[in-house]
Amino acid sequence: MAVPQLPLLWRSILVLYAALCTTSTAAAETSQTPLSQAGYKVGQTIPVSCLNRTTDTGEHITDASGELLYTPFPICNETGKPLELIFGVEKDINCTIDFVDDPFFHLLEFYVHNDAPLTCRIPTKPLPPSPSKEEFEKGTTDLTEGQGSLSDVYTPMVVALAGTLQLSHLHVSTSLNVLVHAAPKSVAPGTIAAATAYSISREPPTRIVIGDSLPLRFSVRWYPNTSLPSGWTGVGGHLTFSTLVYCLISAGASAAICLAYFRGVELPRRLKSHGKDRVGGIERGGGLGGYGISNGYYGPGKRD
Ligand SMILES: *[C@@H]1O[C@H](CO)[C@@H](O)[C@H](O)[C@H]1NC(C)=O
Ligand SMILES: *[C@@H]1O[C@H](CO)[C@@H](O)[C@H](O)[C@H]1NC(C)=O
Ligand SMILES: *[C@@H]1O[C@H](CO)[C@@H](O)[C@H](O)[C@H]1NC(C)=O
Ligand SMILES: *[C@@H]1O[C@H](CO)[C@@H](O)[C@H](O)[C@H]1NC(C)=O
Repeated sequence: MAVPQLPLLWRSILVLYAALCTTSTAAAETSQTPLSQAGYKVGQTIPVSCLNRTTDTGEHITDASGELLYTPFPICNETGKPLELIFGVEKDINCTIDFVDDPFFHLLEFYVHNDAPLTCRIPTKPLPPSPSKEEFEKGTTDLTEGQGSLSDVYTPMVVALAGTLQLSHLHVSTSLNVLVHAAPKSVAPGTIAAATAYSISREPPTRIVIGDSLPLRFSVRWYPNTSLPSGWTGVGGHLTFSTLVYCLISAGASAAICLAYFRGVELPRRLKSHGKDRVGGIERGGGLGGYGISNGYYGPGKRD
């Protein structure tokens, strides 16, 4: 009786839950409760913005109130949008900056020559939707807190762009790794804990002059907590799960071979020496190999 009612119960719970969800999000949108408290969902996009710098000295630019000015990452030709990371999704992102203009070329010179880093940042949690931007400008939200590099609204992501400065052009290592750590789910779900990006200098650099495109290739990896996994499994590596499994399997295999030997070779031999009247099929049991083993399988049965 109760069994057919169960799906109905579940369905009504689901409907109730869905209704609650829609009303609460609607309420959030209208009353502007701090949505920033909610974490990222897997697959949600994360905008990258970078510190604006002057092209003559590479110094950072501040606004009237002395706050560092961040601007969206340059637009990628592939997407038509500034660079975006995707929460919890490991992928290669191509971001070709279509046209390296004169100011941007000078900035690249600063980055590559280590006069100034390409300092970017990503929101630690999703930013509130645009209506609160007015509040942000009025300075009434938390967003104005923490003006240094350690605000908890944003997580810094310094892009260590490598390259060499030539007389007329630049060599830039455009293949980059991006590592992003999320805070453990049990502590703060959907929250970014740390991020970094760096050029792979081993790969052949791209030659850049003013007017070229800059083909950036980002390889993004995500970590579910703030500790880096061990990536080196050679000498000096740690005992890994696969090593453990290998040990267990080989232990099991040796035990099986011992058992087979005992049943196929040792046991028939002992039985043979015990009584000549039970010779039956045991004569064949003397052979080694698979034949002996299959014979030995029937061996113990003869004792009954
Ligand atoms: C960076 O700041 C300069 C000077 O204030 C401004 O002209 C430029 O448009 C800014 N860059 C971006 C990408 O907004
Ligand atoms: C960027 O996109 C535009 C238009 O989609 C295209 O004309 C241009 O060749 C592209 N540039 C590169 C470097 O792919
Ligand atoms: C990115 O560009 C490289 C060539 O530079 C290409 O081989 C690769 O398939 C592209 N990856 C994606 C995800 O578009
Ligand atoms: C961090 O995550 C890894 C999985 O990538 C896990 O093996 C490790 O035990 C975690 N470390 C801590 C301290 O939770």
